[in-house]
Amino acid sequence: MLVLGIETSCDETAASVVKDGKEVLSSVIASSAEMHVKTGGIIPERAARQQIKSILPVIGEAFKKADKKQKEIDAIAVTVGPGLIGSLLVGIETAKTLSSLWKKPIIPVNHLVAHLYANWLGGALPVFPLIGLVVSGGHTDLVYMKGHGQLELIGTTRDDAAGECFDKCARILGLPYPGGPSIAKEADDYLRGHKNPILNIFPRPMIGEKNFDFSFSGLKTAVLREKDRVKKLKEKVPEFSANVQEAVVDVLVDKTVKAFKKYHSESLLLGGGVSANARLTEKLKIILRKNGLSPKLFVPEPKLCTDNAAVIASCAFYNNRPIPWQKVFPNPELMIVS
Ligand code: KG4
Ligand code: ZN
Repeated sequence: MLVLGIETSCDETAASVVKDGKEVLSSVIASSAEMHVKTGGIIPERAARQQIKSILPVIGEAFKKADKKQKEIDAIAVTVGPGLIGSLLVGIETAKTLSSLWKKPIIPVNHLVAHLYANWLGGALPVFPLIGLVVSGGHTDLVYMKGHGQLELIGTTRDDAAGECFDKCARILGLPYPGGPSIAKEADDYLRGHKNPILNIFPRPMIGEKNFDFSFSGLKTAVLREKDRVKKLKEKVPEFSANVQEAVVDVLVDKTVKAFKKYHSESLLLGGGVSANARLTEKLKIILRKNGLSPKLFVPEPKLCTDNAAVIASCAFYNNRPIPWQKVFPNPELMIVS
């Protein structure tokens, strides 16, 4: 089965052709991230305007790179939420038009669930039951999955998401958008340059608590406080970055490993932009080993962690529930489990 995936929930305009949910024949991404560097964050109106310009060329290129024609695809998959309303509408209205014109079924996809499907695109396939950690710019969700479409939300953030925390702390430290990769780079410099790095400056909110929930907004406040305390911030940026990264990673790892232990799963999956963070995988492996746990661990390659349309097409293949195009609408507030 060939699926055309379309993703426009945030600042990316992406299209992809995926075979049988596993084989990426093409994955094209036009990002307006550079435009947002200047403003230090996304301006939704500008993101959507850019997406209107990019969507048809991106879809055309996805077909070209896959060496496929429109008549060869079996379905169109599109992100319906969560995301920015203007951005979602660009992808959804395009998908609906193509579905109606080409007489192809349309499969609505939850962007957060789709992030986990990056792990079906890497060769070896995850085994159920599994624990999935979705860490993106707007969400931090721990789920238990018994099968495709059988998700149970076991933990989530009570305030900011992990990616949001990276982005906000980066902004405070004067680092460019998106904050996650900027902080990771500074942290890397600090860790490589110090044999005995100091990594306990900031708190680990909710660590050690019995639930699987997260809270990251206090971290941003702690960074603000430290920033006000130091005279030459520039010199402290690598150290502070390493400490932000370490605090976020420690909490994510603690809760994920605890969830894996409690739910006796086969596989452990990461997904979403923050799962591109190398320190997260490194520490996860260390703590799993310390706990005598050896799950089938799946971490997508970096380009599949961040937003793309291949994961949308894969998710649609495994959750193949088309609906009439007249009934496809955006849902900006969609949760990972509804
Ligand atoms: O999944 P994603 O591409 O978009 C959303 O669905 O939100 O995630 C974007 C988030 C941003 O907050 C970005 O700062 C973060 O992922 N991110 C990272 C890294 N790469 C991207 N955070 C930490 N380390 C990274 N290497
Ligand atoms: Zn995303």
